[in-house]
Amino acid sequence: MDAPHATHEAIEQALTTLRDGYPSRFSAATDEQTLRDENAKILGKKGELTAILKQMGAIPGDARKAIGAKVNALRVEVETAFDQRLATLAAELRHAELHARPFDLTLPARTLRAEGHAHPISQVREEVIAIFKSLGFGVFDGPEVEHEVNNFTKLGFPPDHPATDMQDSFWTTDGHLLRTHTSNIQVRAMTSMTPPFAYIAPGTVYRRDDDATHSPMFHQLEAFLVDENVSMAHLKGILEAFAARLFGAGTPVRLRPSYFPFVEPGAEVDIGCVFCRKEDGTRAGCNLCKHTGWIEVLGCGMIDPVVFEECGMNVPGEQKFSDPALRRDETQKWTGFALGMGLERLAMLRYGVPNIRLFFENDPRFLAQF
Ligand code: DAH
Repeated sequence: MDAPHATHEAIEQALTTLRDGYPSRFSAATDEQTLRDENAKILGKKGELTAILKQMGAIPGDARKAIGAKVNALRVEVETAFDQRLATLAAELRHAELHARPFDLTLPARTLRAEGHAHPISQVREEVIAIFKSLGFGVFDGPEVEHEVNNFTKLGFPPDHPATDMQDSFWTTDGHLLRTHTSNIQVRAMTSMTPPFAYIAPGTVYRRDDDATHSPMFHQLEAFLVDENVSMAHLKGILEAFAARLFGAGTPVRLRPSYFPFVEPGAEVDIGCVFCRKEDGTRAGCNLCKHTGWIEVLGCGMIDPVVFEECGMNVPGEQKFSDPALRRDETQKWTGFALGMGLERLAMLRYGVPNIRLFFENDPRFLAQF
């Protein structure tokens, strides 16, 4: 029984040597690679501690257990010491780097990035507001959680219109939803004010829509004017003034017949493509205007008599509407136009931004460009 005993002793001896030796071996390593090599010599597959572990099979049960515990304790000790030494070496390296170059206190300071500025959507919104204010429009505000009556019903949406669907809009409770457009403000103005009036309503709107040109939350601006004898010519005049101010003098504007439940007639408004337009106003055609030379910017139309009726205006007997040529029927007293635009879309056109998401990610490298 001498041999196992000798092995036992030899192992104890090897453990002691290792325990006494590793601290100075680690501290002698002055760079990361040497330290890692040294660590591998102890803990690696062919390392010294691993070799000891392999010899343990020769030791009888009880003694093996006790020695196994020692081997494991030493392994943990070595691992901890390795981590600490590694951290120390990293700190020393950093310290050396920082002190290698002397500080030149006379160097001029690096200029800080310019102070913050308004988000491109806010910039476009403020510009559009300023244009309409200069044309005599006031600003009207309203809630983003709206009743379906103001968002849909009074605007002439039939009850089964797709926009009223759960799939298209965010409903909250009891017939309320996140407004799908700023046209609700038309209803709020028309049910609470007496014409003549002209307002714009900038604000946040919500739809279940998400791709390169649609975001579930986006910004719109509605404009509407109610008075007697308002005609499509007034609308077009406003549109031309608006386009000239936002996109440059002489920007061509055209109206294309279109349908919205709350206007009749309704139209979509195109402007001459801002991307391929030349000095003389001609357009070569490009991918962005799909080679048509025109880009759609907003929807508009004459406020539908049904909206007046829903809002309790144009009631029989109040007839004051003087030009019969513009009148739809005997009870119509007030007339008006309305238009609505998406501010992200305007900003994308204005600044040539290809993806709507860029406006919401708030990446300073993007925002700094405006
Ligand atoms: N509310 C419409 C939308 O969200 C935009 C719009 C179109 C507003 C025509 C109007 C209008 O006032 O006349 O798509």
